[in-house]
Amino acid sequence: MTLGSSPLESTVWWAHTSTASDRLLDLLDETERTRNARFRLQSDRDRHLVGRALARLVLAERVGCAPEDVVFDLRCRSCEDKARTGAGGEDPSPHGKPVPTGAADGWEISVSHSGEWVVLALAEGVPVGVDVERISDSRDLDGLAAFTLADTERREWDTLPEAGRVGAFFGYWARKEALLKATGLGLSGGLRRVSVSPPNSRARLLGWEGGGGPDAAWLHDLERGPDYRSALALLTDRAVEPTVHQAEVALELLRR
Ligand SMILES: CC(C)(COP(=O)(O)OP(=O)(O)OC[C@H]1O[C@@H](n2cnc3c(N)ncnc32)[C@H](O)[C@@H]1OP(=O)(O)O)[C@@H](O)C(=O)NCCC(=O)NCCS
Ligand SMILES: [Zn+2]
Repeated sequence: MTLGSSPLESTVWWAHTSTASDRLLDLLDETERTRNARFRLQSDRDRHLVGRALARLVLAERVGCAPEDVVFDLRCRSCEDKARTGAGGEDPSPHGKPVPTGAADGWEISVSHSGEWVVLALAEGVPVGVDVERISDSRDLDGLAAFTLADTERREWDTLPEAGRVGAFFGYWARKEALLKATGLGLSGGLRRVSVSPPNSRARLLGWEGGGGPDAAWLHDLERGPDYRSALALLTDRAVEPTVHQAEVALELLRR
C-alpha cells in the first residue's frame, strides 16, 4: 500500500431489474439494441438493458455530456492477447469489457448482473471490476469448487461446516471474478490463478499467478442481502474509498 497518497474513489450503483422499461431502450446504441433483442429470456434482456442504460446515464452525469455522447468500446483482453501472439482463435463477434470512449474517455466501468440485481462500478483512470452472484444450490458444488478455488482456498473451504459452504463458495467466486473482470480477461484469466482471503474475513488478494503480488489489487465485499454475494476490485496498490448508491437513487436516474 502506498503511504501518504489520498484514497482513490470508486462509485457503485445498484439497480433492481424491475427498473427495466422500453423507454430505457432509447439509451442504448444500435449494437446494444440488436444484442438486447437477441436474448431469448425477458430476464436476460432486462439485466442487459438496465446495466447499459445505467452505465451511460451515470457517466453522462459525471462528465456533463448527453448520454448518447458516451460510447462503449468492447475489449476482450483474451482475444487481444491471442491476436498479438498470433495464437489464433479470436472470437470475431463484438464482445468483452465495455470501455468508455467519446466524452467519457478515461473512465473505467464494470457491469455485473445476477438474479434480480444489476451492479455498476466506476473509477477514473484505474481498471475496475465488479461481480454479483445469486447463491444457487449447485448439484455439483465440488466440481465447481475444483474449477474455481486455488489450493489454499480449497483447503479453507473444506474446513467449513456444510451449511456455510454454498454461500462461502459464491463469496470466493465474486471476489475472484471481480478481479478478473477488472483486467478485461474475464474468466479466461483463470479463477484458480487468483487466491483471496476466506469469505468470513476482510476481502484481500493473497496471491495471483502471473498477475502480481497482494498489492496488485484492492478488494472489497459489497452487501446485497443474504441471497447474493458481491465484490468490487480495483487494480491499484492504493487505498480505495467506495461510495455505494442504493437502488432508489439509480431508479430516480433511470426514471428521468
Ligand atoms: C464475460 C464474463 C466475465 C461475464 O461473467 P458473468 O458472471 O456471466 O456475468 P456478469 O453479469 O458478472 O458480467 C457480465 C458483464 O461483464 C462485462 N464483460 C464482458 N466481457 C468482459 C471481460 N472480458 N472482462 C470484463 N468484463 C466483461 C459486460 O459488461 C457484461 O455485461 P453486459 O454485456 O450486459 O454489459 C464471463 O462470462 C467470462 O469471462 N467469460 C469467459 C471469457 C471468454 O472466454 N469469452 C469468450 C470469448 S474470448
Ligand atoms: Zn474474446
